[in-house]
Order: sequence, then structure tokens, then C-alpha cells
Amino acid sequence: MNTRVIKINPENPEIDLVVEAAEVLKNGGLVAFPTETVYGLGGNGLDTDACKKIYEAKGRPSDNPLILHISQFSELRSIVREIPPMGEKLMEAFWPGPLTMVFPKADVVPLSVTGGLDTVAVRFPTHPVALAIIRASGLPIAGPSANSSGKPSPTRASHVEFDLSGKIDMIVDGGASHWGLESTIVDVSGEVPVILRPGAITKEMMEDIVGEVQIDPAILSKPTKDLKPKAPGMKYTHYSPKAEVTMVSGDADSVVKTINELVANHHKEGKTVGVMATEETKALYQGDYVFSLGNREDFEEIGANLYKHLRKFDFYEVDFVYAEVFAEEGEGLAIMNRLQKAAGYRRLDV
Ligand code: TXA
Ligand code: MG
Repeated sequence: MNTRVIKINPENPEIDLVVEAAEVLKNGGLVAFPTETVYGLGGNGLDTDACKKIYEAKGRPSDNPLILHISQFSELRSIVREIPPMGEKLMEAFWPGPLTMVFPKADVVPLSVTGGLDTVAVRFPTHPVALAIIRASGLPIAGPSANSSGKPSPTRASHVEFDLSGKIDMIVDGGASHWGLESTIVDVSGEVPVILRPGAITKEMMEDIVGEVQIDPAILSKPTKDLKPKAPGMKYTHYSPKAEVTMVSGDADSVVKTINELVANHHKEGKTVGVMATEETKALYQGDYVFSLGNREDFEEIGANLYKHLRKFDFYEVDFVYAEVFAEEGEGLAIMNRLQKAAGYRRLDV
């Protein structure tokens, strides 16, 4: 398949290009498009065949459900069975935006979308390109991250091209995604909202609106037989580059010293080493590829750069990566959740 790549104005998308992309979706094809979190791989969310194509293109296990993307509030009623009051409050506060909510699903939503679950995840993005394409298609659009399964989510069109070129109909290039980490997922189908995946909309932000919010305890530790994440996709060793990634924690000086010792040892064996540093520390490391995620306190910048850097380590065929860690609070929780998965929970405390 020949994948068309079209450049679009991210703030003010050209209507003819939007219509072209929407036509592909209406005809059962697949279109990757930018959202404010990461690029999504869109297909008709009510069409079992289109959803099958999404799973095939990504190489995604079929028990891992897709998110349905909408472009106006009124679309929600047709795809969910019920909108609990706390869900209503959260959507008023945070939609459109980087929040996905899990509701009891309506019958029209195929089980092939929900991985056989009785619930459906719904997101109302704020990116002008995503909104315009979804609206023009007139459909709820199934949209997983537009990466090959197991790779870091794409935050640029070039990442999508690298993973999915030849496997999908179209890639709409609208520049870099703003947040760079996938949306927060909150399950509002039970008594208390439960965060299944941390993201830019934090626990504290939601608690201000609805009171108690819980976090799926499986989010920050290695999944075990008894501790399985409630979002099926969170159980996979996701987001990982080919290199062996290790997080290194401790006081700043010891972290730098330890990583440089490890780099020296790997160099003796002829290995290539990458370091995921911060602005404050990048000049102190001796790795072959030292990338700064941003200022240590700037979680927005760090989140936006994480996947880009993980992909670069792949590109440079690095054998080992050492990464600094961050506080697991606010948006730091989302960063650490993704970093832990990239590292397969490998961590060195010094
Ligand atoms: O920011 C995002 O959410 C991006 C952009 C493109 O919108 N999309 C995204 O989709 O990250 P995906 O498919 O890569 O991740 C969706 C996650 C998976 O971990 C999946 O298991 C979980 O949502 N999920 C989907 N439906 C669910 C449901 N009914 N119950 C629990 N988890 C669900
Ligand atoms: Mg994904």
C-alpha cells in the first residue's frame, strides 16, 4: 500500500485536506493524524473491518481495546449506555482535552473495538486537526496511538512514517504533539473514578472537581499475577526502545558518578551508551548520546520530549540507556509511569 503523507496547518487546517482525510475514513481506510497528546491511527470506530485493519497495521493484540474519539459532546450519548454524574462533571471541566473516560458501552459499539469489554473508552481531543477530521467524517473515530505495538507513541509524523508507512492509507502531518504523552484514562463506570493511565490531567486536578479519585495500584509497579492493570494495554512492556534501559535514582552527584562508571565499563566492551539527562546535568555525562529531556522541574517539557528521545536511541542503535528519574507527583506520575515501562522496571538506586 502506498501511504500518502499530507502536510496540514496545525492551527487552521485547510478544509480540502480535512475533507480528503475524512473521505478515507468514511470509506473504511486508516488515517494517522495529530492530537495534542500523541499521533493517533484513525479508523471508523463503528466498523469492525476498519478496526481489524488498525490491529493489523499496529501488530496490536486484539484484547487491547481502542479509544473512540469524538468532536462534540452530543456524540457521546450514542456510544455509551450511561453517563454517570461524575463523568459529566469531569467532561465539563476537561473536555476537549487530554482526558479519556471509560463508560459502559452502547450496543452500537462493536466488541472488536472494546476488546470484548462491556465498557468503551472515549476521548474528545482539542487539537484543531483531530477535531476537524473527526467532525468531517461524522463518525466516532477509533484512535490508538499511531505506533507499531511495543514502540514509543509517535509525537511527530516522521515517527508514524517510520512505523506504519506502507501499512495505512494516509498520514496527516500537523507538526509535533504538544503534550507528548498519551491522555489520562479515568474509569467512571464504577462508584469512584479510577485512573487507569496517568497523563496531563492529574489526580489532583480531577479531585478538585469530583472529590475522591483513586489510582489503579498497578500503575507504578511491575504487573504481577495478582496486580494486573485495569487498562489492558498497560500490562504490556510498552514504549520500549531496543536498548536495555535502566533508571538510576539517588542524589544528583551519585547518579552522575554511577552512570559515568557504567558508561566506562560498557565502553571497554565496545558498547554504545545513551544517557537521558536533564538541562542541569547533560554536560556532566560521558555517554555516546546524551539527550536532555528539559529542565528538571519542567514536567511539561520533559513529557513532551520523552518519546522523541527514546526513539532517537533506537535510531542510533544504542545498546544501553541510563535515565534519571523524576518525582512521582502531578504530571511526574505520567512521566515515571512511561519511563518505568521503557525500562521494564529496571532501576538502580545509588
Ligand atoms: O492520548 C491518547 O489517548 C492517544 C491519542 C491518539 O488519542 N491514544 C491512545 O490510544 O493512547 P491507545 O490505544 O494507544 O491506548 C489506549 C489505552 C490502552 O491501554 C487500552 O488498553 C486502554 O486505553 N483502554 C481502551 N479501552 C478501554 C476500556 N474500555 N477499559 C479500560 N482500558 C481501556
Ligand atoms: Mg498506544
